[in-house]
Amino acid sequence: MQTLEQQFSIHFSFPVIFDRDIFQPENQQFASVLLRGGQKCHRVLCFIDSGVLRAHPSLPQQIGHYAEAHSALMQLCGPVETIQGGESCKNEPAVIDKIMRCVQKYHMCRHSFILAIGGGAVLDAVGYGAAIAHRGLRLLRMPTTVLGQNDAGVGVKNGVNGLGRKNFIGTFAPPFAVINDFGFLDSLSPRELRAGMAEAVKVALIKDRAFFSSLFEQRFDLASFARGPMEEMIYRCAALHMQHIGTGGDPFELGSARPLDFGHWSAHTLEEMTSGLVHHGEAVAIGLALDSLYSCYSGMIEEDELRRIFTLIVDLGLPLYHPALAELDVEGALDSFREHLGGKMAITLLTGIGSKKEVDRIDAVLMGRCIDELMAQDSSKGMRDDQTAPHPVHGQIF
Ligand SMILES: NC(=O)c1ccc[n+]([C@@H]2O[C@H](COP(=O)([O-])OP(=O)(O)OC[C@H]3O[C@@H](n4cnc5c(N)ncnc54)[C@H](O)[C@@H]3O)[C@@H](O)[C@H]2O)c1
Ligand SMILES: [Zn+2]
Repeated sequence: MQTLEQQFSIHFSFPVIFDRDIFQPENQQFASVLLRGGQKCHRVLCFIDSGVLRAHPSLPQQIGHYAEAHSALMQLCGPVETIQGGESCKNEPAVIDKIMRCVQKYHMCRHSFILAIGGGAVLDAVGYGAAIAHRGLRLLRMPTTVLGQNDAGVGVKNGVNGLGRKNFIGTFAPPFAVINDFGFLDSLSPRELRAGMAEAVKVALIKDRAFFSSLFEQRFDLASFARGPMEEMIYRCAALHMQHIGTGGDPFELGSARPLDFGHWSAHTLEEMTSGLVHHGEAVAIGLALDSLYSCYSGMIEEDELRRIFTLIVDLGLPLYHPALAELDVEGALDSFREHLGGKMAITLLTGIGSKKEVDRIDAVLMGRCIDELMAQDSSKGMRDDQTAPHPVHGQIF
């Protein structure tokens, strides 16, 4: 018997651009990204989130004019295609089918570009389609939500939901480039603007105390969506996510620890339980509150640190609680998360603001007490499990 050992490593590198007015013909950012693929005319197939198209009906024409102005570098293949915005696109196999058919119809090859413009959900679905067609086309992500720009868009994952499970089907596939145009945020609803801030609170909590302090100091400006603080928050949050993926030693999550998923074990289940009525960022805010409270009850963080965390979440206009949390099967949700991680339990908890620790065991009874505490603090008894955003918990913690 003989065994050969196959070995190789691949270097990945992609730009993440922050700018405005990307499709103004004189803006060179998009052209310079295409140029990275070589000095030739690149074929580009474009998918746009229906919510973005509704808010920016002239976007296809703008892209068309841009392509005309840069015709030596760019050729649009077919008309701009629309993908239903929001979580529903990740539940619908027909979306992936549509992407495959377009790739085939317009004879896209592995060197062609797929341009995905939209929120995190559309980026995830189109990204998955781009990763599996011909085993991977070049993906240009253009995130249009806060959460897309500061988290979902800058990472290396894609995915859709399957068998009732969130992100059950997907791949790791770094994009060719990420182009963030802050101008898209102007048309976002306050609810979506707020939701994305939860990921900034998350990454500050596990990685960067100074960033947390800056979010805390600017929390009222952020709550009123002041442009400067919002853009700074997005940039710093994206940079921290990128730093973790690039230097954390496990970009494709082969191990079990998943610090960027702090607060997410319950968040994903809340999203599933409410069939997406609680949006990802809102569910993350609740998940952060829960795991911060658990960290405090476990003696890992001080009460005044917890109070600062809750104050930030509430003052940003994010929720600490939703009635579905009371129905959460803690052990079942943890088990499902463990399965998603790779079989070994690794839950991130806080040891302070800006520092974290992975634990391999959660005391379900103590976690239940944390849920009860959040419920007790919930003064908004009129909360409804419908389209309205979950109300933040107002009132004193402790
Ligand atoms: N791949 C990853 O690493 C990763 C990381 C975090 C989150 N995600 C995923 O991202 C998704 C959440 O993304 P999201 O928070 O961006 O929400 P979303 O994609 O669900 O979009 C929310 C809504 O905003 C609309 N919209 C998007 N941009 C708009 C704009 N500029 N103007 C007006 N309306 C606009 C959409 O049509 C949709 O109705 C979840 O599915 C989550 O699992 C993925
Ligand atoms: Zn998230």
